Amino acid sequence: MKLWGGRFDGGPAEAMAALSASTHFDWRLAPYDIAGSRAHARVLHRAGLLTDNELDGMLAALDRLAQDVESGAFTPTVADEDVHTALERGLLERAGEELGGKLRAGRSRNDQVATLFRMWLRDAARRVTSGTLDVVDALVAQATRHSGAVLPGRTHLQHAQPVLLAHHLLAHAQALLRDVGRLQDWDARAAESPYGSGALAGSSLGLDPEAVAHELGFPASVDNSIDGTASRDFAAEFSFAVAMLGVNLSRIAEEVIIWNTAEFGYVTLDDAWATGSSIMPQKKNPDVAELTRGKAGRLIGNLTGLLATLKAQPLAYNRDLQEDKEPVFDSVEQLELLLPAIAGMIATLTFHTDRLAELAPAGFTLATDIAEWLVRQGVPFRRAHEAAGECVRVAESRDVGLDQLTDEELAKINPALTPDVRAVISVRGSVASRDSRGGTAPDRVAEQRERLVSRLADL
Ligand code: ARG
Repeated sequence: MKLWGGRFDGGPAEAMAALSASTHFDWRLAPYDIAGSRAHARVLHRAGLLTDNELDGMLAALDRLAQDVESGAFTPTVADEDVHTALERGLLERAGEELGGKLRAGRSRNDQVATLFRMWLRDAARRVTSGTLDVVDALVAQATRHSGAVLPGRTHLQHAQPVLLAHHLLAHAQALLRDVGRLQDWDARAAESPYGSGALAGSSLGLDPEAVAHELGFPASVDNSIDGTASRDFAAEFSFAVAMLGVNLSRIAEEVIIWNTAEFGYVTLDDAWATGSSIMPQKKNPDVAELTRGKAGRLIGNLTGLLATLKAQPLAYNRDLQEDKEPVFDSVEQLELLLPAIAGMIATLTFHTDRLAELAPAGFTLATDIAEWLVRQGVPFRRAHEAAGECVRVAESRDVGLDQLTDEELAKINPALTPDVRAVISVRGSVASRDSRGGTAPDRVAEQRERLVSRLADL
């Protein structure tokens, strides 16, 4: 059965049909298509195009079709061009040709697919959000468990200044919460139903697109039927939001990979979230983190592929648009595999806090504390910076830490460097002194964690 046989002499060539077919990926839209059909039947009825009896018969047939789709009793055949074609066949089989044939009035696959795709994505955004919040929960739990632990904060991957481990973990949580926020902002823009736009120009049948929109969970229908059928920026924007999420997860993953090396020795992975090697018996590999990093590349590819598909399409609908779905479906599928695994990996990481504490002052990470202490004594920062640098030079030449410089050495570098400076030449003192809003002082980090937890409770 074709939806468009009338003006054709014969059926499509086999290779044409094979190229055209999309049920192998758009079948997942079937429940949404049936929901759209129910809403459409109701507006046809309200427009006087279906009698009360016909509406009842149509809805009953759609219910039976929905059950058969769900149970697997009804599936698309190779002859069905797409999900819409297959379901129309299913409806005709259940409602009869006469009644079933009335549902096509006033709608096109162009407005159908644009609506169903938005519906599917809006549900997917909720699933991705919930999976992302599980990762945030895992980060917050580790931050809570290790509220006093320190580590060498880095810039350029070099030791920079000591920070709280909780501060570092919550930085990742902040990024993931912005990803969640982006999906919420996206939803507000995507929440317009194109149903009723027809092929592009709207309908002459007195249908009510707003009623269909509301029945399908949209606050409104689109303002412009051409835009409604032709635009896919909702798909591209969604793809960006999830690609960004993939990139943020990948940055966490990269750190876990580094932290898990013998050289760093910051963490041990739980056995359940690591893999072994088929040849090297000693290996315990961070595959979850590596797959996260790898899949981020795939998510970026899905976004750029979709943008390239869209870039030269004239208005309104073009069949190129059928290529919009697979990359986006794929991004969601990958995240649904990834998010529970990365949450599990993070939740079960063992942090070696003694090693982290030992490394925190290494690499003269307290030099800034000396400089800032001098500034508080009234020394101009340029001179303070130079004096602290000199402390590093002397300590390095003697192969000792900054805290092991003698009183004489300090005084010789700058007379303002009295023994009182020792109060800040300690990791605890350094961390406690960074008490600006958002800073690494324990009270500030605790506040930040509380703010974050209360935002989570509101989501
Ligand atoms: N399967 C198509 C898509 O995914 C919708 C069908 C529109 N086809 C058409 N000839 N107007 O975009």
